[in-house]
Amino acid sequence: MPPKFVRAFIGIIIVLVILTSLFVFHEPTRTYLDPSTGNVYDDESVHKTVDNKPPIRDFGGGVIMPKLGNETAKRALGQAAWKLMHTMTLRYPENPTSDEREALKAYFHLQARLYPCGECAAEFQQLLVKLPPQLRKTSSRRSAALWLCHVHNEVNKRLEKPIFDCAHLDSTYDCGCGDEPILDSRESDTGLDGVLPIKGGR
Ligand SMILES: *[C@@H]1O[C@H](CO)[C@@H](O)[C@H](O)[C@H]1NC(C)=O
Repeated sequence: MPPKFVRAFIGIIIVLVILTSLFVFHEPTRTYLDPSTGNVYDDESVHKTVDNKPPIRDFGGGVIMPKLGNETAKRALGQAAWKLMHTMTLRYPENPTSDEREALKAYFHLQARLYPCGECAAEFQQLLVKLPPQLRKTSSRRSAALWLCHVHNEVNKRLEKPIFDCAHLDSTYDCGCGDEPILDSRESDTGLDGVLPIKGGR
């Protein structure tokens, strides 16, 4: 055969080999993208994460309620809300699961959106940025209760109210639920920097 045909023949063989190998070794697999988690599942059910998006929502977002204005109504609402939140953290599990920790974190982020006083919710959102309820803050009842006390004292500072003694949270927000005190027994150990142990508050 003349060299021209040989070259053409070899060329055709090479193209065929490449096409065949593409078909054999790169057969497209059926993939399924889970839109809620961002995970990709293929035929062997091996899943890979497309990005590092956490599977649990962070419940961020803007304030939902309008401005309240009325100072009397605002004060009554605030006292009720602090009572609810302090009682919640003081009854929170001593050794929470990761699900329970996510729930507490989500609760505060949702409250910062849905709190019935819009301007108060906006302040709470800023407090969550300054003192985020992450990591250690939700890791135990004691951590959660002291974190919230710290948040409350930030508000007290702004309102020029006395700083609350976090060591006496238990007796101040005793729900009558018969729980063992967790903070009162450990005097002067508030675990918080810059929070003076002064009895009082609201
Ligand atoms: C403010 O709120 C209080 C308590 O909810 C209410 O009694 C009062 O009438 C309100 N004042 C005005 C001006 O709406």
